[in-house]
Amino acid sequence: MPRPDLLERLAVQTAERAQAQLQRRLRTISETQGPYVQSGGRRLLAFCNNDYLGLARDPRLVAALKKAADESGVGSGSAHLICGHHREHAALEEALAEWTGRERALLFSTGYMANLGTIQALLQRGDLCVQDKLNHACLLDGAQLAGATLKRYPHADVEAVARQLCSEGDRCALLATDGVFSMDGDIAPLRELAALCSSEGASLMVDDAHGLGVLGDDGAGSVTAAGLNQQEVPILMATLGKALGCSGAFVAGSSALIDGLTQFARTYIYTTAMPPALASAARCAVTLARGETWRKEKLQALIRHFRRGAEQLGLPLMPSQTAIQPLMLGDARRAMEAAQHLEAQGLLAVAIRPPTVPQGQARLRITLSAAHEETHIDQLLLALQSLRLADAPV
Ligand SMILES: Cc1ncc(COP(=O)(O)O)c(C=O)c1O
Repeated sequence: MPRPDLLERLAVQTAERAQAQLQRRLRTISETQGPYVQSGGRRLLAFCNNDYLGLARDPRLVAALKKAADESGVGSGSAHLICGHHREHAALEEALAEWTGRERALLFSTGYMANLGTIQALLQRGDLCVQDKLNHACLLDGAQLAGATLKRYPHADVEAVARQLCSEGDRCALLATDGVFSMDGDIAPLRELAALCSSEGASLMVDDAHGLGVLGDDGAGSVTAAGLNQQEVPILMATLGKALGCSGAFVAGSSALIDGLTQFARTYIYTTAMPPALASAARCAVTLARGETWRKEKLQALIRHFRRGAEQLGLPLMPSQTAIQPLMLGDARRAMEAAQHLEAQGLLAVAIRPPTVPQGQARLRITLSAAHEETHIDQLLLALQSLRLADAPV
């Protein structure tokens, strides 16, 4: 038999996806201003970015980035462990460790890389990795990369976690969960999971990409909001590209964890350090996220406003108290049509379809930001009302 051609196989898979009408499409944005984006010659009011505190365009972040770029140039020029680790990186790591109440923090260029590298450094073949079925793709990929046995439990089902951990009591085990689930917006049962890890001798890792800046006293995230310390959640990961309005990520924890990751996390070691100017902007964002508490408060008020209005309209809300407010539509085509209808009215909210979410659970993923005003939410509610989603079969 002749060897099958890889690109042909990929083309067949791409065609199958198009036939199922589940094709992903790229949208090019030319400009952003507050919650508005310019796309295809139109100005659209966006409800789909993760800039939860409205910091991405803050002039102070832009000034910090420009100033650091004037001093240090654009690229870091090298990996952290060669000569790319700049004092801006060190200062940001210190600020993040202090904010999250951890001994130390380590920067990664993206959240995806932070999760891959951390899990791959911690786990070995034969170890156990227990994960929520709705965890972000990069946590799942990390376990696979490490060659660990991956067990996925039904969403937020603490009893299932207990069964999975108890049945493999003699293996090293990592329990990894999103703090705030990226497509559903709900918060993991962190206290229960931490108690279970403690009694079962497993380590708990929380990916707080969507909780940092938004939840907890001082905006320190879902782990702080749950009252959990470094011992209870020894591995905390969060990103800089969401509420902090920048890009990049970090892992925070004990000195031993950070020393170990510095030695063994391949996505930390074998890659160019993030630009120092970006680290400077991110440090400015940390200061603003902590100091300007009105951002978090305004976001909470907008979330309440949206939910109240959506409830009155009978929209298919999900049980989320965070900035991620999906509307469950079920059918992928219906979700696409809803997004298109909104766009025709000048609003941008994306349809999330399988395989990103399970079959039959397509949704509009609406995200709110402190950059929005109540009038924007009212505009969205009015457009949603005209969609007659309340009549949609789910
Ligand atoms: C829960 C979660 N973890 C990790 C990531 C990856 O972070 P990054 O975009 O910085 O790669 C994302 C999304 O981007 C996410 O939603």
